[in-house]
Amino acid sequence: MVYHGARDPINETILVVEDELNMRRVLRAMLSREGYHVQLAKDGVDAVQQLMVQPSRVVLADLKMPRMDGMELLEHIQQHHPAIPVVILTAFGTVDTAVEALKKGAFDYITKPFDQDDLLMTLRKAVKSTEWNVQEIGAGREDLRIIGQSPPMMKIYETIEKVADTPTTILLTGETGTGKELIAKALHLRSSRHRGPFIHINCGAIPETLVESELFGHEKGAFTGAVSTKPGRFELANGGTLFLDEIGEISREMQVKLLHVLQEQSFERVGGLATIRVNVRLIAASNRDLYQGVKAGDFREDLFYRLNVMPIHVPPLRVRREDIPLLVDYFLQKFNNMLNRNVREMEDRAMEALISCPWPGNIRELENLVERLVVLASGPVIRWEDLPAEVRGDKVPQVVRGIGEEEDLSLRKAVEQKTTEVERHLISRALSRFKGNITRAAEYLGVSRRGLQMKMRKYGLRK
Ligand SMILES: Nc1ncnc2c1ncn2[C@@H]1O[C@H](COP(=O)(O)OP(=O)(O)OP(=O)(O)O)[C@@H](O)[C@H]1O
Ligand SMILES: [Mg+2]
Repeated sequence: MVYHGARDPINETILVVEDELNMRRVLRAMLSREGYHVQLAKDGVDAVQQLMVQPSRVVLADLKMPRMDGMELLEHIQQHHPAIPVVILTAFGTVDTAVEALKKGAFDYITKPFDQDDLLMTLRKAVKSTEWNVQEIGAGREDLRIIGQSPPMMKIYETIEKVADTPTTILLTGETGTGKELIAKALHLRSSRHRGPFIHINCGAIPETLVESELFGHEKGAFTGAVSTKPGRFELANGGTLFLDEIGEISREMQVKLLHVLQEQSFERVGGLATIRVNVRLIAASNRDLYQGVKAGDFREDLFYRLNVMPIHVPPLRVRREDIPLLVDYFLQKFNNMLNRNVREMEDRAMEALISCPWPGNIRELENLVERLVVLASGPVIRWEDLPAEVRGDKVPQVVRGIGEEEDLSLRKAVEQKTTEVERHLISRALSRFKGNITRAAEYLGVSRRGLQMKMRKYGLRK
């Protein structure tokens, strides 16, 4: 899409979000006197709307507000405007919540009644924190750190630095939990559009009929339920980055529409006539091999090449096991801080077990396990015995469990029974994964369509 290079429309704009009129006035007067450009919002919802139109340098938000409170607003900003620091204003007595906000990534908090100098100093620091050069942006944000020193990760960092600040469309591929979303955010934060919005849409999670209006918006009355005009994600992402997650899930029909938009660099809202042009950087992601999809005829080849301008493949954790100890240490720290615990380390034997685990859910799975271990830890060291059996690797393989426990089976019979069970399970899982699409399920399972249909009859599986 159109790319305008570096821009800095907001010199030192501070968005003040406060529900009390008088307080808003006081803050405006005080901050304007200091030379800031002040924008006012009366609650979180109002702030979200204003940020869509005009990003600001820093947000100063009250905690207690009607409709959307400061905490929810903080979460929204972290998600959609990760480069904007948020300073929380809180009444004396709700400091606990303020500390909670710090843990969630707020820049700092100030208690009311506040000391003017204190507030001004904090805001100055917050503004300053955004004055990094683009490479460093987000470096202070713990939750945006990318951990890993393995060769494939080093290569990814190199690519991020090279392509972040270009208008090039990027296609991120990799298994579930490998860090695609994290990398998409890193790319946004290291581009000159980092103060613009980062808009995420998970194409796989939206009902097929709604994808078009979610992406392009709709006019009032365009279809039943369209009670008011609504901008789509392309419009919301104007001046920033649009992250099209699980792009492999969109229908053929939507693929055609998306291709058209990418070629024309413009679109219309559903039910609308006006042509809308936006300045958006696209990052698409898929945990399926899109090229396989092209070969199977599920994904349009022309759209694939439009998206695949700059591919970044994020490898699964099992091919970069040397990153596991770093990740474990990082997550231990993270959950210690979050849960107020003091787990110092993993016993060597426990770490070795973690290193040799296959991690089908990749980093997300490892992260969840470390969180569980920190919650359950009874001392400063996590021992091998604390690990779940499947991670320790000493469990009877699940597939053999239950065999021959009730009756004595011959080896042949036992294998036959288990094969049947496994086969039925895999087929039914593939069918539900591909929503009953036999062609795709067959391709996924590596069997012919006819073969799959026979098995389905055998096991009484309907699509
Ligand atoms: N290299 C990394 N360093 C630190 N944390 C990471 C790293 N990679 C992933 N994570 C964390 O693992 C979790 C999963 O990552 P993310 O959501 O980016 O994966 P994904 O590839 O988008 O997965 P999915 O395909 O299932 O959406 C997140 O909490 C993320 O912060
Ligand atoms: Mg993801």
